[in-house]
This record gives sequence, structure tokens and C-alpha cells, in this order.
Amino acid sequence: MSASPPCARRPDGPLRSIVDQIRERLGEHAVLTAPADIAPYLTDHRGLYHGRACAVVLPRTVEQVSQALSLCNERRIGVVPHGGNTSYCGGATPDESGRQIVLALARLDRIRSLDAAGFTLVAEAGCILRNVQSAADECGRLFPLSLGSEGSCQIGGNLATNAGGTQVLRYGMIRDLVLGLEVVLADGRVLPSLSALRKDNTGYDVKSLFLGSEGTLGVITAASLKLYPKVRRLATAFAAVRDVQAAVELLADLRERGADSVSSFELLPRIAVDLTTRHIPGVVDPLGARHAWYVLCELASSRADEPLSETLESALAAALESGGVLDAALAQSEREREAFWRMRESVPEAQRRDGASLKHDISVPVGRLPEFVRQASEWVGQHVPDGRLVAYGHVGDGNLHFNLNQAPGADAATFLSRSDMVMRAIHDLVHDFGGSFSAEHGIGRLKVAELERYGSAVELDLMRAIKQALDPNGILNPGKVLRVQSPARADAARPRVR
Ligand code: MLT
Ligand code: ZN
Repeated sequence: MSASPPCARRPDGPLRSIVDQIRERLGEHAVLTAPADIAPYLTDHRGLYHGRACAVVLPRTVEQVSQALSLCNERRIGVVPHGGNTSYCGGATPDESGRQIVLALARLDRIRSLDAAGFTLVAEAGCILRNVQSAADECGRLFPLSLGSEGSCQIGGNLATNAGGTQVLRYGMIRDLVLGLEVVLADGRVLPSLSALRKDNTGYDVKSLFLGSEGTLGVITAASLKLYPKVRRLATAFAAVRDVQAAVELLADLRERGADSVSSFELLPRIAVDLTTRHIPGVVDPLGARHAWYVLCELASSRADEPLSETLESALAAALESGGVLDAALAQSEREREAFWRMRESVPEAQRRDGASLKHDISVPVGRLPEFVRQASEWVGQHVPDGRLVAYGHVGDGNLHFNLNQAPGADAATFLSRSDMVMRAIHDLVHDFGGSFSAEHGIGRLKVAELERYGSAVELDLMRAIKQALDPNGILNPGKVLRVQSPARADAARPRVR
């Protein structure tokens, strides 16, 4: 048995360290302490935060999660729930104190049940999203949550951050896909709300509190999820549009013609095409000439005979006629469709390979997007000479990743030193437009101060009251989402953004 690191000892606690206690209860193999073993859990995937931890605990059962939490609660040890480590806001990374424990849910990875007739499944928190999609697919059903990171993100993290992705337009955020949850509370009690009922009006909807709470109110261990009929027909187009206004108009027209079959509507600027074709092997520009803006739109139906291509073609033809669409390519095969999506989904990776970037995950009402993009782009042009705008995303949801990359030849450090100033200007503008400074990536550690600035006083009071009620010792993901005074609190300082 390896010795416990000194960080695990509390001067006022029993001499036996918390790490030893957890190891005794959960078994030797459930606890990692060797620096090389725990290193992957200490840095977030953007490289913004580099934390320390007493140990990484890997429970296999809900009972083990419960035991670990109740021990940590008694000893006031901070617990950082950890899924696939794909947070954009450092939500799953411990602080630098070395006094926190990382609770990784990866071993709770069973699909507990699947009811094809009832259109539901129960998945444990550590299931990789793609495995949940595949389990549904094998039974002729669809689990519609779809994200660029679906091959590595875990459903527990998706739930804890209320993930969005590319099919929100038709199916909603993951919150809309949840029927029930199993959650371990800070004191180790288990909330058994895994019901698959579609109707259940019995008092407060307690489980909904945990969706988007980022592990600060409880640890989600399993969820009962909604399934949908499998998609049997798709029509996908990559179209050059005159401007953002034309994109929004095309979306409205498509929704009118295609009713609720429009499942994705993504906006890409020319620079996204340039970056992905340059940095991501195999990505090609589907259209010949260069244009300022593009949309990737997809219609989906569970009816194999639904005339989706006709609907899409007629909308594009009308927009070509009116000048809103300048050129378009319709996917003629699944391979072509995948190629369109590969371009869209590899934009974050292409941005990363191109150099330093500043990211803003904003949303405004869809109809106000064109004016927002106009004003925000003008501001960037005037104030960030060493940055290039890479604004793309889920226009159907009013959600843009209003990102900037360092311009060619620019000094990364100087560019990054503007991050606070740029973020303030963009978020203030978003606020003026009645929008959100975090549309789908959550708060994590990165945006705690932003929530304090833009959240309403009443909302913040309620959030603190809920936190106090569910986690009075402040052991759950300290320093994330809310700044609260607690023994296990972490500092929510902003990192250098890259
Ligand atoms: C995406 O839609 O690609 C992601 O949410 C990531 C990003 O902010 O770049
Ligand atoms: Zn996104």
C-alpha cells in the first residue's frame, strides 16, 4: 500500500488520512495516488488549469460513491467529480491546494436497462456518450445528444453541465432528454429518482436542480433518458450565404417548409473553412469559390419516405433566387455528409492547432444575431489588431462560439494578455442584447466572476441558498459555479486563457 500524501492529513482530524480510509472502504484499486497515475486528472483539456489532488478515487458502484462522499463530508474534504475531461471551463479540475479529491466516474459505465417499447434507457454516469448512442441504435432507437467530443465525453458530465451540441434545435438540451436521475448527495445519501415516467407532478422537480449544477450540488451516478425513433432519412447541405442575416432567414424558411425536421443549423465563417482545410487532414472545401459565410444544415426524419431532399432543395433554390444563398452543395452520400460534419466538428481542433485563441460561448435571441455579429465584429476589428475572428456555431439556437485566434505572426502572449478586456467587451455587448455569456459550456471555474457580474441578485441568492441546503460543508466541486464561503472552498481566480 502506497503512503498517503501529507496533503491528505488534516491537523484537526484523526491521524489516519482520508485517503487511507477511502482505500480501506473501496479497495486498493479504487484509489490512485502515484503522480503519474493522477496526472491526467489534474489538467483540463484546454490546458487552462493545472491542479493538485490527494488522490483520484474510481468507484465501481453507487454505494462506493456514497461511501467516498460521506467520508469526505465528515472530514470536510473537497470532492471534484470528473467525467471525460472535456469541459471548456475547467469544471472537472481540482484547485492548486492539493487538498481535494478527484472522484472519477469512468468505472460506472453500464447501460443498466433499455426499454425499446417505452423509448427509454438507463445509463450510468461514466458511459461514454457514443456508447449510449450505440446502445440506443442497436435497439432501433435514437439518443439524440450529439457533440464534437462524443467519443470521449461521459453522460454524467453531459448531464452535470446540461450539454447542448448540434441537435438542440430539434431535441433540446440534455435537460430535455432526462426522465429521471440517481444522485449521491454530499452526505452520502442517494436520491433514487430514476423513474422513467413521462408524467409525474408530485411536488418540486428536485432532480432538475442537478442538471447543469456541475457537480456542486450532488454527484449524478445514473440517468433515465428519453429515446426517439431512429432517423431513417436525412438531407444535408453545405451552403454559402450572403451574410448572417441571410442565414437566419434561411433557417426560418426551412423551419416553415420542413416543420420540425430541421435538426441542425450551423454557421461557419470562411476562416473556419480555411483553418480546417489547412490543419485537419482530409477536410476539403465542398464549394469551389470563396464566400464570407456558410451554413451546414440538416433535416432528419424517422420516416424513410419523407421528401426531405426536396424540401431542402426547394428552400435553397428560393434563397438562391433571392440572393440569400450564393452557392450550395447537397450531400449525395453518407460519405459526403460525414465530410461536411467533419469540417464543422473539427473547427475547435483546427483553432487549437493554429495558435492561441480566446473563446466566448454566447447566445442572443436568434433574430438579433446578425446585429450582434455586426457590432461585435466591428469592435474586434478596432480593438484587437492581432486577433482574427472565428465566430461559428449553433445559429439555430442563437448560440455562437464567438472565438478569436491570434493573427498570423502575432505574439501569442501579447494577444492573450487582452483576454480580460476582450471578454468584458463581448460579454457586456451580449448582455445588452439580452443574451447569455455561457450558452452551453457552463460556468466551471472560468466563468464564476462572469456569473457574479451578469447574474441577477435574486437568482444568485437562490443559488447560494440551494447550495447551502444541499452541501452545507461546501465539499462538492468547491470554487466552481458559485463563490461561497466554506471550509472546502477553492479560489476562483481566472487563469491565463489560451
Ligand atoms: C463546438 O460547438 O464546436 C464546441 O462547443 C466548442 C467550441 O467552443 O469551440
Ligand atoms: Zn458548441
